[in-house]
Amino acid sequence: MKKIVVLISGQGSNLQALIDACQQGRITANIVAVISNVPQAYGLQRAKEAGIATDVLEAKNFVDREAFDSALQQTIDQYQPDLIVLAGYMRILSNPLVQHYAGRMLNIHPSLLPKYPGLHTHRQAIDNGDSEHGTSVHFVTEQLDGGPVILQAKVPIFPGDEEDEVIERVQAQEHTLYPLVVNWFIEGRLEMRDNAAWLDGQRLSEQGYAAD
Ligand code: GRF
Repeated sequence: MKKIVVLISGQGSNLQALIDACQQGRITANIVAVISNVPQAYGLQRAKEAGIATDVLEAKNFVDREAFDSALQQTIDQYQPDLIVLAGYMRILSNPLVQHYAGRMLNIHPSLLPKYPGLHTHRQAIDNGDSEHGTSVHFVTEQLDGGPVILQAKVPIFPGDEEDEVIERVQAQEHTLYPLVVNWFIEGRLEMRDNAAWLDGQRLSEQGYAAD
């Protein structure tokens, strides 16, 4: 079985969707470890309940980002994963770490990239009067939230929507989208080449895979 390491910082609802998909055979791989930079992240409980190994690395115990990321890389590599999945990991990765995992690290970002990289995407979409928002799964590159998009899902924004309502709508999509894309990778259907995402040998567009 192929091996996945998941990095989190918080709730871990996407982690839970991945755990469920592995248990139900929708992802044909094992999550071998969950690593958090936040000791109290609820996602760590989810991992423990599923019998998955956990590690915590706190930034305050390291002199700088390079030292932190070097320890993070060592922690990840001891599990010899085929794929590293960022699931609400809220810390910027240094370039050497990103390069080390080039083509085998995925992220999910709550916006229709390239729109709204960075934080507070739902708030920005509401404040700008957007009628739709969404989420993107992409390969991780040195450009923050800028790697090749693999798959997106859109949700509507209705007049008067609160931020929480939009977040909930987006997350419901994420929980379907992420396991699907992770399994594409695990099955060897997905790769990053020439700074683009390729599925079944076809180069995907800037919005990722689009069903006919
Ligand atoms: C998700 O909405 C994801 O897009 C973003 O952070 C959030 C994490 O949520 N990167 P959770 O921890 O998976 O519940």
